[in-house]
Amino acid sequence: MIKETISKLLNEQVNAEYYSAYLYLSMAAYADRAGYKGIANWLHVQAKEEMAHGTRIFQYMLERGALPSLGGIKAPPASYSGITEIFEKVLAHEQGVTESINRIATLAEQEKDHAAYQFISWYVSEQVEEEASAEELLTRVKLIDSHSGLLFNLDTALASRVFTDPFGR
Ligand code: FEO
Repeated sequence: MIKETISKLLNEQVNAEYYSAYLYLSMAAYADRAGYKGIANWLHVQAKEEMAHGTRIFQYMLERGALPSLGGIKAPPASYSGITEIFEKVLAHEQGVTESINRIATLAEQEKDHAAYQFISWYVSEQVEEEASAEELLTRVKLIDSHSGLLFNLDTALASRVFTDPFGR
């Protein structure tokens, strides 16, 4: 049985991961309507990954004898000023997620819950990748911000991203 303090943070993280999916879906809608289908595709795949992240934590709670409690998911912003703002917000959001994942890892360590620590370590590593890819895309978008032809090249490149379940299910 997992300690309630850890279970509470895991439960909050399930909600945060589903909120991430909502956020990326709202960004995908904006990108799609702005004509950037490739960027919309990248964001759709990102949203699916977030759903997988949340569902894996939900399952883990059940495996450890905790009862996940699903709360409301707040509404994400509905409009954006452009593609640059989208990737600025992706990066800021992922940095926030890293902080919440680190809080869980720190608590699992303090509580000497080695299983929970090992479980959340996957997410610690994942956040390194999440921040790196958001940072890279933001840098590229800023570099090409004033050259719409190049932005369309990036859009074409991002159209090829496909979802693969990070947990291999
Ligand atoms: Fe679930 Fe984007 O971290």
